[in-house]
Amino acid sequence: MAQTRRQEADGAQTAPQSDRLVIDCYEIADPRAAMVEDVRRGLLARPKTLPAKYLYDEVGSRLFDEICDQPEYYPTRTEEKLLSEIAAGVIEEFGPGQLVELGSGASRKTRILLDALTGTVADASYVPVDVSEEMLRQSATTLAEAYPGLRLHGIVGDYEHHLRDLPASNERMVIFLGSTIGNFTDLEARSFLRSVRGQLSEGDALLIGFDLVKPTDVLNAAYNDAAGVTAEFNRNVLRVLNRELEADFAVDRFEHHAFFNEQESRIEMHLRAATAQQVRVEAAELTIGFEPGESVRTEISRKFTRNDSERTLRAGGFAPHRWYESADGYFALALALAAPVV
Ligand code: AVJ
Repeated sequence: MAQTRRQEADGAQTAPQSDRLVIDCYEIADPRAAMVEDVRRGLLARPKTLPAKYLYDEVGSRLFDEICDQPEYYPTRTEEKLLSEIAAGVIEEFGPGQLVELGSGASRKTRILLDALTGTVADASYVPVDVSEEMLRQSATTLAEAYPGLRLHGIVGDYEHHLRDLPASNERMVIFLGSTIGNFTDLEARSFLRSVRGQLSEGDALLIGFDLVKPTDVLNAAYNDAAGVTAEFNRNVLRVLNRELEADFAVDRFEHHAFFNEQESRIEMHLRAATAQQVRVEAAELTIGFEPGESVRTEISRKFTRNDSERTLRAGGFAPHRWYESADGYFALALALAAPVV
């Protein structure tokens, strides 16, 4: 039933479409060259870093789902519960014609909003945006069956580059869940929000998750689960580089190291070389040395106060409108409105 329009980078469309489920695919011109560039820049930087997005290949995405089920990892269930408490009210107030989800993944939490939306708005549409074509195709097909009145328009693409061509709508709500915004530096978060703002009309809504500052032991436990799933998730990025860039990281010689950096108010995830290492990244024509105990930072996950969150939203062109916080104060959903362009 799904119809696909495959688009060249210049936006040319090819195949026809059905009226209830359409999937547009945008392709990055040369993903391998982009990865070589990212990895070269990161490994030559001091301290060494790797972009967090390469954690999420197929295996990594599956491991992340498993992290969400660990007892120490509170964000997913806390956000899900909060969302189910507020969904009806949010939809009642906005009832957007179009719900756009950035980084939709399996769209699990989204069903909470879709239940409320399809019960309220006739002819609503859901626009999931995700880099994984397989995941998006699967979840869109499942949702089309579960919500017979809903129009679905999936976009396979990088939400930092392919938001230009959202299907037309006069009332949008963009959702960005999971505190994924926390993976961005403050500067990156602002510019990301501004690019989202650029796709919206004044008064359109943004519902966005923020993981909040909380006791350090709770934070550290969430990124050091006893079952070792987060450690596996972290190390997997080295397997991605070995496979995609013909690198030769000795995966079991790197230790998972995650801790709350209080100064920066963020969890940092690192891989630490237990002993001195020499690593060749063939595709980048790069040989990199690690001192014993030296690490490469693989992810940051910022923890916000309400003030930080609202400052970030304003800097990104949004006016904070409502603030919903879980009873334990661990997680918040902010509803913000696209501000007038100045
Ligand atoms: C998906 C980015 C929200 O930062 O908590 C979980 C990723 N990393 N455990 C987070 C993650 C390690 C997660 N986000």
